[in-house]
Amino acid sequence: MEIQEALKWTDDLVFASTGKHLDSLQRSILEGAWQNQPYKSIADDYHCTPDHVRKTAWELWQQLSDILGEEVKKSNIKAKLERIEFSHISNFGSDTQIFGDINICSKISPYPKAEKTPKKRSPTTPTNSDNIQPEKRHDLTDAPEPHNFDNRTNELATLKEWILAENNRLVTITGLSGIGKTTLTRQLVAEIKDNFHRILWRSHRKFPTLNALKTNLIEFFSPPQPQQNLSILDYLRFHRCLIILDDFQETLTTGEFVGTYIPEYKNYGKLIKEIARSPHNSCLLLLSWEKPTEIANLETENCHCHTLQLQSLGESAKELLKAKNLTDENRWLELINLYSGNPLWLNIIASTIQDLFNGKVAQFLSYSHLFLGDLEPILHEHYQRLSESEKLVMQWLANQEIGGDISSKPPKFSSEGDFLAAVQSLRKRNLIKKNVSEEGCVFTLEPVIKKYVKNQSNKSF
Ligand SMILES: Nc1ncnc2c1ncn2[C@@H]1O[C@H](COP(=O)(O)OP(=O)(O)OP(=O)(O)O)[C@@H](O)[C@H]1O
Ligand SMILES: [Mg+2]
Repeated sequence: MEIQEALKWTDDLVFASTGKHLDSLQRSILEGAWQNQPYKSIADDYHCTPDHVRKTAWELWQQLSDILGEEVKKSNIKAKLERIEFSHISNFGSDTQIFGDINICSKISPYPKAEKTPKKRSPTTPTNSDNIQPEKRHDLTDAPEPHNFDNRTNELATLKEWILAENNRLVTITGLSGIGKTTLTRQLVAEIKDNFHRILWRSHRKFPTLNALKTNLIEFFSPPQPQQNLSILDYLRFHRCLIILDDFQETLTTGEFVGTYIPEYKNYGKLIKEIARSPHNSCLLLLSWEKPTEIANLETENCHCHTLQLQSLGESAKELLKAKNLTDENRWLELINLYSGNPLWLNIIASTIQDLFNGKVAQFLSYSHLFLGDLEPILHEHYQRLSESEKLVMQWLANQEIGGDISSKPPKFSSEGDFLAAVQSLRKRNLIKKNVSEEGCVFTLEPVIKKYVKNQSNKSF
């Protein structure tokens, strides 16, 4: 690429984003950077101070970084521009150009033109939206109705911090069925939606393959028509997008340790890694019972990923029992703890208490056996996903009074490695809890799960 071409390209890029052309100093800085000239010598040629050049250059690199969604500086501008292919796309006629990974429509932009008075930039506004206000497109047809519960405020604050303030690219919410992943995310999306140009919510039950999802995403993200040769990542760079993939555990195998993809989904791992590692301002939000192995590994690499493991609703679940008109409020906390503060489990059991005991919690709790009733099929869905060695660990833990100490392997296991791998896998499935005390660390099962596993063991004899 020649310098004149680079100048024109950069000018088009800045103009498409801000409605202004490069000024003469900015052009001199670009030319100087292209020829590896120090700022001082650019300043001498331009008859101004090196500080003025440095400041203008810094602003220009910032502007280009924002537009491209990757860091641009004097030392890399030439390499970045040289990487860029300058071509026309027939779909949009000669006014639309592809600049490397970014699609810029210079005259017939599908987006409204730049506002006259630029908005004050907040850390959470999309990088390329200071002057252009792209049309927002939010597709939440697969999402449930929002509820606006006034609990989970800490979780909401954490997620907002990760997604808006820290610009994390991959956020995973894990937790057992019914703990409230979908509900929390729906509320989060309602609160942060204005920060994203594109929001797409998909449940995994609807996407048989990665290709089906990719086609759907590209159709959705593209300006009027999908364009050839642009990847999902290209769109994630150009727009600030939020993609929510719910029920992500559906992509993972059952009957073996957690985290392996079902063959037709195996490319998901690659996409997830690309999204986490490449620079952009979009976010992929995964909701899952289990954590895919890639995500655990990406977190150790410290690359803009976070996982929120959703826990008990705690005392705030009392609101839910109140709504079900239960009585004996002094026993509610006991009921909440027995059912792990899981809102779905509590809703189901509250309906049972209403039906069988006319809402009297004390009468229900006077039964010495923990009642599962309609929870059994839900727990079964989790249990049938386990490998044989995980089931063995679950059965061993179900028979421990105060929890299982893993400092030595239980006799039922032939290999220590297999035992530890099974424990680790169960942790990633959120099925076992770690209790740390002065005496040491033990692993336990939630009462409902313990009861379910014991029932299973009794059935198999
Ligand atoms: N914070 C909450 N306060 C009160 N009720 C809640 C809350 N979160 C979820 N619920 C209720 O619990 C039920 C289960 O919630 P949700 O569907 O969000 O769980 P989930 O974790 O997505 O489950 P799954 O993994 O099976 O999809 C819903 O009926 C919802 O109304
Ligand atoms: Mg859900």
